[in-house]
Amino acid sequence: MKNQYRTNLCAEPNESHIGQKVVLAGWVNKKRSLGQLVFLELRDISGIMQIAIDAEVSPKLIDIVSKIKNEYLVQIKGDIVLRDQETVNEKLKTGTIEVRAEEIVILNESKTPPIYVDDSDKTNENTRLKYRYLDLRKPAMQHRLIMRSKLARIVREFLYEEGFYEIETPFLNKPTPEGARDFLVPSRVQPNKFFSLPQSPQLFKQLLMVSGFDRYFQIVKCFRDEDLRQDRQPEFTQIDMEMSFVTGEDVIEVNERLIKKIFKEILGHDVALPIARMTYDEAMSRYGSDKPDLRFDMQLADVSLIVKDSAFGVFASVVKKGGSVRGLNVKGGSDRLIRRDLDRLVKVAETYGAKGLAWMRYTQEGIVSPIAKFFTDAEKEAILSTLDAEEGDLLLFVADKDEVALTALGQLRLHMADMMEIERSGFAFVWVTDFPMFEYDEEEKRYFAVHHPFTSPTDSSVELLGKDPAKVRARAYDIVVNGVELGGGSVRIHKEAVQEKVFEQLGFSKEEAWEQFGFLLEAFKYGTPPHAGMAYGLDRLCMLLADTENIKDVIAFPKNQNHGCVMTGAPAYAGAHQLEELKIATIKAEEKDD
Ligand code: AMO
Ligand code: AMP
Repeated sequence: MKNQYRTNLCAEPNESHIGQKVVLAGWVNKKRSLGQLVFLELRDISGIMQIAIDAEVSPKLIDIVSKIKNEYLVQIKGDIVLRDQETVNEKLKTGTIEVRAEEIVILNESKTPPIYVDDSDKTNENTRLKYRYLDLRKPAMQHRLIMRSKLARIVREFLYEEGFYEIETPFLNKPTPEGARDFLVPSRVQPNKFFSLPQSPQLFKQLLMVSGFDRYFQIVKCFRDEDLRQDRQPEFTQIDMEMSFVTGEDVIEVNERLIKKIFKEILGHDVALPIARMTYDEAMSRYGSDKPDLRFDMQLADVSLIVKDSAFGVFASVVKKGGSVRGLNVKGGSDRLIRRDLDRLVKVAETYGAKGLAWMRYTQEGIVSPIAKFFTDAEKEAILSTLDAEEGDLLLFVADKDEVALTALGQLRLHMADMMEIERSGFAFVWVTDFPMFEYDEEEKRYFAVHHPFTSPTDSSVELLGKDPAKVRARAYDIVVNGVELGGGSVRIHKEAVQEKVFEQLGFSKEEAWEQFGFLLEAFKYGTPPHAGMAYGLDRLCMLLADTENIKDVIAFPKNQNHGCVMTGAPAYAGAHQLEELKIATIKAEEKDD
């Protein structure tokens, strides 16, 4: 890094450099005066070096130092010396040495920063986002973004090694009706028409397979206009790939090796291969989720058959109507939770879509529960044994349509793990496979694709298209870790006839399907190879590697909850001239802050 500004990065020198002269440049992290000694902490991308200025030895420097404040950019020339034993700072890589300053040049001044440039900073998120460039000076922020850069490099190197080609796909595309909401971009040259930004490069990567590129990948921005959560952003990055002449097994195999390499090189963690697999049905019935957190057990059980003829009307009638009663055993929960906690749990269950929550405490006196009286001894015995209950356990039950009962109890499972402070460490990977191809939307009264409409149904369920859509299974696979969906993919349809049938199932007429996706259907007429692929959320992968719950921590310039950038002020009103050129008139809407 030697150049006219510096001989070294701040944290490069070590004890072997003692006695050498260095020139460093960086930001003043901290300034401390101890009588005639002044210490500066000088920070750059590599870390921190302490600079010592002794008024007695260098009186001319004291004048300059007196002007220096936090975040001033300074250049220091001096000797590397060993620190006195009592001033050694074990937290710093350079903690045993310092630079005795001979010359100090102020390269640039700094206003008093509105945030404290330190990992312990507690400034609110909006201010941090407004001054993101200062926020990004914090060592922890730099560490995470450097990790992200390293991750991207590992992925690229691995995929190049495996024969993948990195090929760009367009951002200005045709709006599609499926999936999340599109971000639209008006066309000036073709007034009144819009491009949409890609929600993923799905169709283009498939077309590259039609072209014969064999293996494609891209680390690519995707755009989805959806409501934000902790692990979602309107623009996010995918590691996107596609392979020809493969089955799902081949995609899984390459990706297991990729995952192993990433975790080894970034965290030194060994991921045991092969990664466990679980079908969607199994994940739902055992964990109440298609992204089960397998770091702890607490499995759901089906007690429908036990309670179907019981005197408890709520349970019996749900089973008779074709629903089910699912139970969860919270080990030690009876001893741990008081009545008020249980009352609160009922409310929690309702937020997860349950109509109610029944509970039983298994105590020394047997089952204690408001609904205990409705069950015979034999029914109670069977419930306890199905749920593997022991004294001190708390049993929770939700009765509803399968899907509702399972999902609500699956959410409660996570909630109870938090409440019971169940230890959840390490990484529990699992491939979830055999997803249903379609799900029914009650509001719109039609089927939607669970993954996307280009996913291939399993060979055995193709014939159910148009007949029993709920039973059609997809050749899709998601990679899940610690309850987070890191990525997903599938074997694709490569025959026009099957693709048309799927569109038909989704409620498209032949004309509509051709109008929307004609280019794909046409391409399928020209010897399309069998192909499959997948995509990861790079941001989510980074969150996991950096052990953070907030997706903004791993994105240099993220958007806030309102899809806004507080720093630049995006989105903003367009000028009258711009709108005129685009032939766009806006409808006045209530103003919403960035
Ligand atoms: P999918 O829609 O499952 O698949 O997206 C792949 C992965 O992208 C991540 N992800 C997001 N990350 C942050 N913010 C968001 N708003 C967001 N939305 C999705 C998730 C997800 O697993 N074309 C298919 C892939 C394929 O079939 O090859 C696709 O886009 O981690
Ligand atoms: P109720 O018959 O509404 O007085 O409910 C009796 C008990 O059953 C209460 O503890 C409810 O919380 C519980 N309960 C009601 N509906 C359900 C349901 N769908 N699943 C599980 N428990 C329920």
